[in-house]
Amino acid sequence: MFGIKIIATGSYAPKKVLSNADLEKMVDTSDEWITTRTGIKNRHIAAKNETASAMGIKAGKNILEKSGIKPEEIELLVVATATPDMNFPSTACLIQTGLGLKNAVAFDISAACSGFIYSLSIVEQYLKIGTYSTAMIICTEKFSEIINWEDRNTCILFGDGAAGVIVKREEEQNTSVFKNIIKSDGKYADLLAVPDRKYIDMKGNTVFKIAIRSMGDITTEILKSCGLKTEDIALFIPHQANLRIINALGDLLKIPKEKVYINVGEYGNTSAASIPIALNEADEKGLIKKGDKIMFVAFGGGFTWGASIIEW
Ligand code: ACO
Repeated sequence: MFGIKIIATGSYAPKKVLSNADLEKMVDTSDEWITTRTGIKNRHIAAKNETASAMGIKAGKNILEKSGIKPEEIELLVVATATPDMNFPSTACLIQTGLGLKNAVAFDISAACSGFIYSLSIVEQYLKIGTYSTAMIICTEKFSEIINWEDRNTCILFGDGAAGVIVKREEEQNTSVFKNIIKSDGKYADLLAVPDRKYIDMKGNTVFKIAIRSMGDITTEILKSCGLKTEDIALFIPHQANLRIINALGDLLKIPKEKVYINVGEYGNTSAASIPIALNEADEKGLIKKGDKIMFVAFGGGFTWGASIIEW
């Protein structure tokens, strides 16, 4: 078994910003209601012709530039998206050609907001047993396309964006942590779905409660299976859906506030892209140092959920 490491991050957010004040003009809501219930102030919205693959390519270029890795060195591209450009070809194939990843095998996965952790877990298997040496994950979401902009229950929550990482096999056996746990339960399919292939439909209140419980349980499980305590985690990056969910989770796990990364206020919920956008931002701000243990946790439609602990 080989060791593996995330060696580069990158992201892209569309230029257009939609604020709570803008939403006040579109539906019966208020900045005060949105802020107190969700912590969200702004979200980025893609241009009409800006697809998930177009955003993914921009994020991918950013990751490649920062990594110094050549496009032809990437052997595996996993793309997580709930908003693919079309049924087929996969968004991954479109991003592959846009980035010139001519030696990569490319495919999409569908796990809604848990897409980044599902992708990490897939890449982990291929790299650890040695099938590939260098993999790229891109999470790209254009939720603005599946939002009913007249539904105040959902239109305030989501935003568009893309982000990802390059993960590399370590040629020497290493002992650094790289652990993922993923779970799913289809009996909750109706609670959060795009039933008519058109708009998101969500029972927000129930989702809220199950999300906190599931993410609390899975983070406890992954810490235990790595033999770690919350004090060992340098930075906790939860899925950015709602500030109240993040705070409840932080309190449940007794993680000090300064160790919890939060940027939901600026992006809203960007589904699969939310954790890698936050990871990239935290890295660019210099908040992560070599050897730090970072914990991710996500929850989304399916239901799907998952947690990861990695060493930087
Ligand atoms: N502005 C003003 N009022 C609103 C709005 C709005 N945008 N949206 C709903 N309301 C009203 C409702 O109609 C309701 O009014 P009523 O009492 O007269 O019927 C009232 O506010 C309370 O509604 P609730 O749904 O009970 O409000 P709640 O406190 O649960 O907050 C929210 C709603 C923010 C959606 C919350 O349930 C939530 O965040 N759930 C999690 C959903 C989520 O994040 N999903 C994303 C995917 S899963 C994940 O990523 C974790």
